[in-house]
Amino acid sequence: MKSEKTNNRILIVEDNAGVQNLYREILGKNGYQLTMRADVSSALDVLKKEDFNLVILDLQLPDEDGVAFLEKLGQFDKSVPPVVVCTGMASLENAVNAMKKGASDFITKPFTVDGLISAVERNIKISQITNKISDIEMVRSILELNRIIISITDIEELSASVIDLVYSFVKPDVALFYFKDDDTERFFLRKAKGSMPGFNPPLALSLGDLERVKQEDRNIARRSDKGFFEIILYGKKDIVGILRLYSGERFFDDRELRFLSVLGTQIGIAIENANLLQQLKESYISAIRTLVNSLEAKDAYTKNHSEQVAYYAVAIGKALGLDNRALESLRNAAYLHDIGKLGIKDEIILKKSSLSEEEFEIIKKHPLITREILKPLRIRKEEMEACLYHHERINGNGYPDGLEGEKIPLMARILAVADSLSAMISERPYRKKMEINEAIEELKRNAGEQFDENVVKALINVLEKSKSS
Ligand SMILES: [Fe+2]
Repeated sequence: MKSEKTNNRILIVEDNAGVQNLYREILGKNGYQLTMRADVSSALDVLKKEDFNLVILDLQLPDEDGVAFLEKLGQFDKSVPPVVVCTGMASLENAVNAMKKGASDFITKPFTVDGLISAVERNIKISQITNKISDIEMVRSILELNRIIISITDIEELSASVIDLVYSFVKPDVALFYFKDDDTERFFLRKAKGSMPGFNPPLALSLGDLERVKQEDRNIARRSDKGFFEIILYGKKDIVGILRLYSGERFFDDRELRFLSVLGTQIGIAIENANLLQQLKESYISAIRTLVNSLEAKDAYTKNHSEQVAYYAVAIGKALGLDNRALESLRNAAYLHDIGKLGIKDEIILKKSSLSEEEFEIIKKHPLITREILKPLRIRKEEMEACLYHHERINGNGYPDGLEGEKIPLMARILAVADSLSAMISERPYRKKMEINEAIEELKRNAGEQFDENVVKALINVLEKSKSS
């Protein structure tokens, strides 16, 4: 029984030497480790630096009263132990006031030996249970975050999510996320969140900056002597990134450091996976582009079609104010959108006369085949949707799903216009190519029915600008 209690540390905030001795007599002899402080400021100081299981607080102290102590404790960034108020002013009002300010319990002076011990045991027990619950919560959050992080395979999305998660969990003043550049072996700032007056984050770090940390245990979040926390993110072999958290005077508690360490391991692996997947994706896309080009080259009528679709789609995207990431997706989708035609017999694809109803039904399957071909690639959702829905129509008469209006993703609506324009201004076996003005008239005629009116307007603007320049 005694040995169980010896690990428990109690901070006694009491200015009366006689009462201090009483605590030593009762609690010290029962195996508790006691630290005595006689005023509010020195008690707060020791609490900032050391961890305790319980605080016993006198309400009348020489510098400030116990309520002020409780108020200041409430502003601590680290987790604080339960506080049992012990006061000679045995009025219910004082006790209630102290509880409102965050005290866990109160006992009145003069106290009995049993009364004191049972209050101490009760409050330590409750706080241990509470800590356990919050540990379970931590494990739960780690699992949840892990699920999110591992499922993200896009580097940009991954860095945005990681910085948001870390920022909302440990609330630093500034969080910085660096990625390793394999060519230069340096780490460049990829994402930053938060601010501190007069603080300029370093834009790049070299391995030398981390040398000391490197020798430490892997993945352990630690405080650098320059005042920030650094979490080294390891892939299977090498460092793949760095997370730095600046928090002014604040110290992260053990729980947060454990959390960051575990999270750091997962983030490292996720970055490595995302990098590998990115490389794989790029080589796959370039292989598919080569394939598309060679297929198009075989057929004089579709030569450079996807190149042209990409050109117009990106131009429309720019005119509609899409960001670079979206434009990149649009370009990829433009190259890939008709890849599903590979799965359809040449005699239908290359047919020089018009298609029978049956043949047209087969042609209508090409977006679905495109999806099947692209599935293993895990390309961005918006790229996949643009490919899948580039034959949908605003009035719901398109295929494969008959989506209507804005239910058709914007990129698919853009691709539909760019694809049709490119088809109209190219020579086809069953008709002559149209002049661009005729094609514009055709698009205008079908705006609001087949095509998105705003997308058609954006294309017309682009074409008019290019005419006048
Ligand atoms: Fe198509």
